[in-house]
Amino acid sequence: MKFLVTGGAGFIGSAFVRMLLSSAKPSTLINFDKLTYAGNLENLAPVANDKRYRFVHGDICDAKMVNDVIAGEQPDVIVHFAAESHVDRSIHSPEPVFETNLRGTFTLLEAARVHKTPRFLHISTDEVYGSIDPPHDADENYPLRASSPYSASKAGSDLLALSYFVTYRMPVTVTRASNNYGPYQFPEKLIPLMISNAIEDQPLPIYGDGMQVRDWLHVDDHCRAILAVIERGRAGEIYNIGGSRALPNIEVVRKILAALGKPQSLMTTVTDRPGHDRRYALSSEKLMRETGWNAGMPFEKGLAATIDWYRANPAWVAHVKSGEYQSYYQRNYANR
Ligand code: NAD
Ligand code: DAU
Repeated sequence: MKFLVTGGAGFIGSAFVRMLLSSAKPSTLINFDKLTYAGNLENLAPVANDKRYRFVHGDICDAKMVNDVIAGEQPDVIVHFAAESHVDRSIHSPEPVFETNLRGTFTLLEAARVHKTPRFLHISTDEVYGSIDPPHDADENYPLRASSPYSASKAGSDLLALSYFVTYRMPVTVTRASNNYGPYQFPEKLIPLMISNAIEDQPLPIYGDGMQVRDWLHVDDHCRAILAVIERGRAGEIYNIGGSRALPNIEVVRKILAALGKPQSLMTTVTDRPGHDRRYALSSEKLMRETGWNAGMPFEKGLAATIDWYRANPAWVAHVKSGEYQSYYQRNYANR
């Protein structure tokens, strides 16, 4: 199969590219990425010399370029990861979020429609359901109640993608995953931020009371689920992908400090995130039933391996934390 992946230089996209190229499944894999602050070709160093791999530097909002690539390459499947993916940044600067997540998704869908791409997988998130009241776990029919500009843009792009199935019978599928963690994650997100700050003996900023619950999914489990949906999922359907390990943030941070042998006093309470969703928890029953997928990585094991990865890769961390990251960090944390 010929794969076109968007956002393949980011955290999850690069894990998917590395996973696919470690198998015989792709005949060609094109990675179309703008290389925003979150895109990093170092994440793809292990596969950069694979003859089946090609990198295209481009913006998914650039209709001509997107059209030319899809017309020229005629991929069998498009896996659409590219997005502005961070909630806090979407609160500070919503415009790029709407451009990339909505216009960019529209641009890709249009080109795929014109060139009759046989399969389009839109990668989405559990955040579209908003905060989920206990004791329920959200299934795919749970109402959409997005809280942040990020989650609203993802909910909008999900609906747009599904409308192409209903209206044009285009073979679109949507996946909605819970919070991912693992190696190569940009340290603006909870787990890598807390690991790297703790390693540097810097304060660990806990939003509000730290009792917000997230459902942790190892990135490799997520990538296996995406492949299962490509191979065995149905067009026009939505599949939740949860980690089945819902934990309060403060418990996750305590585990990180304990694993690193650092004092719990490094935790600092800061002002809460506006519109902060209290709880995410997903039912992945449909995905398991239809594809046979299961989340294989126990959270404690995955977290320990992730901590080891950050310890073993100080140069990667130093590089991504230099430059723009410093001004983002100031903007997000200085006045909290
Ligand atoms: P990321 O921020 O690490 O990477 C995003 C990638 O998209 C980067 O390589 C960036 O350069 C690229 N990109 C951004 N704007 C672009 C544009 N206009 N044109 C081309 N490329 C562009 O994101 P991630 O955490 O890997 O998330 C990937 C996808 O998975 C997103 O769609 C996100 O909504 C979804 N998702 C993420 C999580 C999570 O926990 N991280 C969970 C569920 C769903
Ligand atoms: O649920 C899936 C979503 O998970 C994805 O769609 C998003 O792309 C991804 O960014 C993530 O969103 P969250 O907002 O849940 O992730 P984040 O890592 O930013 O925050 C996780 C929790 O930790 C959240 O409750 C906020 C809290 N937090 C986060 C940071 C960065 C803190 O308490 N302190 C922090 O410094």
